[in-house]
Amino acid sequence: MSTSALDTLDLGDPATFADHDLDGFWRTLRDTAPMHWNPPLDGRRGFWVLSRYDDIMTTYRDDVNFTSERGNVLVTLLGGGDAGAGRMLAVTDGHRHHELRKILQRVLSPRVLNEVAQTVRVNTRQWIREAVESGGCDFAEQIASRIPMTTISNLLGLPEQDRDYLLSLTKTALSADDEDVDEVDSEMARNEILMYFMDIVEDRRESPGDDVISMLIASSIDGVPLSDEDIVLNCYSLIIGGDETSRLTMIDCVHTLAAQREQWRRLKHGEVAVETAVDEVLRWASPTMHFGRSVVRETELHGVRLRPGEIVTLWHASGNRDERVFARSEVFDLGRTPNKHLAFGYGPHFCVGSYLAKVEIAELLKALRDFTTGFEPTDEAARIRSNFLTGFSTMPVRFDPDHSGLKEVDR
Ligand code: HEM
Repeated sequence: MSTSALDTLDLGDPATFADHDLDGFWRTLRDTAPMHWNPPLDGRRGFWVLSRYDDIMTTYRDDVNFTSERGNVLVTLLGGGDAGAGRMLAVTDGHRHHELRKILQRVLSPRVLNEVAQTVRVNTRQWIREAVESGGCDFAEQIASRIPMTTISNLLGLPEQDRDYLLSLTKTALSADDEDVDEVDSEMARNEILMYFMDIVEDRRESPGDDVISMLIASSIDGVPLSDEDIVLNCYSLIIGGDETSRLTMIDCVHTLAAQREQWRRLKHGEVAVETAVDEVLRWASPTMHFGRSVVRETELHGVRLRPGEIVTLWHASGNRDERVFARSEVFDLGRTPNKHLAFGYGPHFCVGSYLAKVEIAELLKALRDFTTGFEPTDEAARIRSNFLTGFSTMPVRFDPDHSGLKEVDR
């Protein structure tokens, strides 16, 4: 791609991602314009675009010159800020972020999650088994949609009958699956999720359980208990942060493995460790294409002066393919080590749900390995429309049964 073509692509517009294969664009940016300026277009402000791994890491690490409190994704950065700023973990900085993060890390620690992880395993194996035995399914709809939402709902102690309702809300709130869903629908869905959690928090105050919401109710920062609003915003953050990202990664995993037979063979025959494969699945999918920050103190990168108030976006979609860091970066290699990908971000805001996400992907890989000899799409997968998330909303697939694997009884 020529450097003059760089200015014609608008990374603020979801259609850019639906209509173009951007691999060449990202490579050109990394090589020739590591500090790219996406100009103001369609009434939106302009913003900086960082495409190299090292620059992304440097910015993620730096919470002195950059802040998340004015939004951390394009939609809020360009829209004038995030309503949860200073209260919701991802858009809070400084001392409060540190303290709130300690609370969430505690409720999402491997020890606390032990039981939840066990349920992920049981559910994933049951659903993959059923899909294989029936010959196939829409993997996105019938399996990938259920795993993360069930997991987070269990974590938060949400009633089973609410899950489909919440799933449809999170889909509308973040990635518009179809072109009819606009920003107003997304906004309404986000408000509906908040109202839903308001009711739940009220109930839980009256009758606490051993779920995350009850744990949040019992938590305080500097001696002051978390308010209902703080709890609601952080529940929202868990459901939004933990549902769609994991779902899109799992769908991409099946899509990629169906096309990359040699990698599937290596997994099936135990030639690669599942934990190693999980990281490559994440690097490859990079479901959150970008996050972003606002400049709070004048600083410099690549000789370019960044001024307070400017927006800097960090593109995992590019950093995770940076040939300066990843050997044969364009190759999907389940045995890749080292693999310090950026899918979970880096620095003070590094994904607090990464352990849970990895458990979900690992259980998916194990269930596929054990129950099917191979799978292939039966129809084209539909791409979501977003400038933030990437992936598919449908994935019809046919599974070939592994009869000996299916015969074994799960423990
Ligand atoms: C933060 C990605 C799963 C909850 C982040 C960030 C990234 C990310 C890149 C950093 C955002 C920033 O720096 O502004 C992912 C991916 C996932 C995933 C790719 C799945 C494949 C989850 C899950 C949960 C979760 C399962 C919850 C159960 C959060 C929260 C934050 C966060 C609360 C904010 C952390 C902070 O600001 O300190 N995630 N995430 N994520 N994630 Fe995840």
